[in-house]
Amino acid sequence: MERQDEDGEEAGGARDRASRRAVASGALIATGLLFLVAAATEGVNFWLVVAIPVAVAAAAIAVGERVQARRVKKLVAAGRRLAIVEALLANIPDPVVMVDRRAIVREVNGAARELLPGLRLGHPLSFALRAPQVLDGVEEALRTGERVRIEYAERVPTERVFEVLIGPLDLETDRPGGDAVEVGPLPREQSLVLYFRDLTSARRLETMRVDFVANVSHELRTPLSSLLGFVETLQGPARNDAAARERFLEIMRVQAQRMSRLIDDLLSLSRIELRAHVAPQTPLDVGAVTRQMLDTLAPLARERGVEIVFEAPPQPALIAGERDELLRVVENLVENAVKYGDGGGRVEVGVARRPSEAGEIVRLAVRDYGPGIAPEHVPRLTERFYRVDVAASREKGGTGLGLAIVKHIVARHRGRLTIESTPGEGALFAADFPALAAEAARTPAVSAE
Ligand SMILES: Nc1ncnc2c1ncn2[C@@H]1O[C@H](COP(=O)(O)OP(=O)(O)O)[C@@H](O)[C@H]1O
Ligand SMILES: [Mg+2]
Repeated sequence: MERQDEDGEEAGGARDRASRRAVASGALIATGLLFLVAAATEGVNFWLVVAIPVAVAAAAIAVGERVQARRVKKLVAAGRRLAIVEALLANIPDPVVMVDRRAIVREVNGAARELLPGLRLGHPLSFALRAPQVLDGVEEALRTGERVRIEYAERVPTERVFEVLIGPLDLETDRPGGDAVEVGPLPREQSLVLYFRDLTSARRLETMRVDFVANVSHELRTPLSSLLGFVETLQGPARNDAAARERFLEIMRVQAQRMSRLIDDLLSLSRIELRAHVAPQTPLDVGAVTRQMLDTLAPLARERGVEIVFEAPPQPALIAGERDELLRVVENLVENAVKYGDGGGRVEVGVARRPSEAGEIVRLAVRDYGPGIAPEHVPRLTERFYRVDVAASREKGGTGLGLAIVKHIVARHRGRLTIESTPGEGALFAADFPALAAEAARTPAVSAE
């Protein structure tokens, strides 16, 4: 940080010279008086005439030195405080800018330089910041002496929203320990501090929450209106039509099931999120859990004409995990592979221990040979309610929450989910979990394949 400190230095120098002058003239006057007295009263001791001015001069020098020492002490104290203030500012991750009453930049911290690379000390703020709202705010704060709060958005290079708090700073009265003003490096005048707060992520979260509620309502409303419609038909026109009643009741059952699935998925998602920061502790064999879920899913695969091929090492592939959550991961991934990749006729599920940069991992991989996923969709698949084809997903009984749940569970297990796909050739979903180190230590024979 730089500073304009000539004024302060000059003031200090002037004071020094003034005190030295006072001391010198004091000694001169004393000596003059002494000679006058000596002339008037003969017989005054010669040594006295010499000694008194010397003593006066010595006292004067001592006083001058004390003044000087006090000044140095104050300067050191002020310097230390400035260093602390600078360190504080440098460590504030939010941009802070100080301008004087002409809106000329006087102080900036590192974060401010990063946000506004055009900032230069001694240059007008408007050179670096082209946000009229903020400049108007600065003007208003200077005019009224009141705190002003402004919001402004940056579009380039990325969209960011900032809140700027502009606070008047009267250096004359605001400086703690009043006497420090004497050696203060800043001119005594009205200034402003601009404090920038990045609201981008807070805003994004807000939008996400609003979108989420809108999505949930929409997802629930569709089956609900269908249910209501059929109830009315059954109460009215189809009251005595036995065949229609059977058909409609079946549709109502499917719709009610869809609502119940959606609520189940929402509840598991919020449960997992609540415990996101608590990593599971129980040793769990990923191979055994996967085999159990594949047994449950066998009828679905048969129904769709899909063959599931499972491969796992003979030794347990242990991770620190939560059984129910791991079952959900296998269920969602294999169900998706069977539902969306049924054209391929084959789904491969594999569990394997393997080394990685971050130590040994257990990989659960699910591969299908269906239509695959276009690259633009891949990064968004784990977003809540994101589907490549909404109608196809609904028709297959999907809620659009499956992969969001998988991602959260894998993250809670300190693992990583990767999705690879070549359109036309199928997709590979892989969840990598840190392998349980204790097991590796107990059975050294179980090493990477
Ligand atoms: N194996 C797959 N092959 C092709 N697309 C897939 C596959 N798995 C998931 N998808 C796509 O990802 C979307 C989101 O999946 P998911 O979160 O499980 O929701 P849901 O299955 O309820 O639609 C699906 O709607 C589908 O478009
Ligand atoms: Mg799914």
